[in-house]
Amino acid sequence: MKFLKKTGGLTRALAALTVVLAALSLQPSAAQAAPRPVVGGTRAAQGEFPFMVRLSMGCGGALYAKNVVLTAAHCVDGSGNTTSITATAGVVDLQSGSAVKVRSTKVLQAPGYNGKGRDWALIKLARPVDLPTLKIATTTAHNRGDFTVAGWGAVREGGGQQRYLLKATVPFVDDATCRQAYGSDLVPGEEICAGFPQGGVDTCQGDSGGPMFRKDDTGAYLQVGIVSWGEGCARAGYPGVYTEVSTFAADIARAASGL
Ligand code: ARG
Repeated sequence: MKFLKKTGGLTRALAALTVVLAALSLQPSAAQAAPRPVVGGTRAAQGEFPFMVRLSMGCGGALYAKNVVLTAAHCVDGSGNTTSITATAGVVDLQSGSAVKVRSTKVLQAPGYNGKGRDWALIKLARPVDLPTLKIATTTAHNRGDFTVAGWGAVREGGGQQRYLLKATVPFVDDATCRQAYGSDLVPGEEICAGFPQGGVDTCQGDSGGPMFRKDDTGAYLQVGIVSWGEGCARAGYPGVYTEVSTFAADIARAASGL
């Protein structure tokens, strides 16, 4: 009787311990966000952002013209007749058989680019692709509000590149707030920041060169930024830093017409 009682107590204790252990082991996975795109994003639908381009050096880009991709200066080696870059367009799935793949013929890195600010470059394609282009902002009017970012880059710091295009929404962060994170590393006239104060959603390695965009007053997508840099990815207090496209719109247009 005594023995049986003891056994019953032990059984109950073990059962209770099992529940506690299960709860403890469940907690980290339940609290941890599921791996999501671009850090905190979701999958883009096929055709949702038809201007998105993946570049073979591992960057993103956007179709500025049918035969010109706008990307980041830090994604290219310099300017010249570079034929080694392949642009993949027209698909969210990079392994899709219907992907449009075109080689580069020329690269133009932003004149005077030295690693600080001015992070834009143009890539001329060997032939025009039959896909919609993305207009660039020519004024600061839309450098506010919520922005969409997209890319095939890492979903966490140190993570791998993605097969499927991911998208996320990030709010504008003003220069003063962004300066609190980056001090004099930020070039306010040439860079625009975006992200949540608590982090969690951001572009990351491999998204560079891709567009940050929103809708304009007519409902058309307008590119306001180019994925450039950040301290880690999606960290609290460290917004993503993007090339401020409106600052360079005239330079980009001039450069494109001379490509
Ligand atoms: N420089 C990175 C690249 O080459 C992009 C980093 C963006 N980082 C960020 N926290 N928003 O892909």
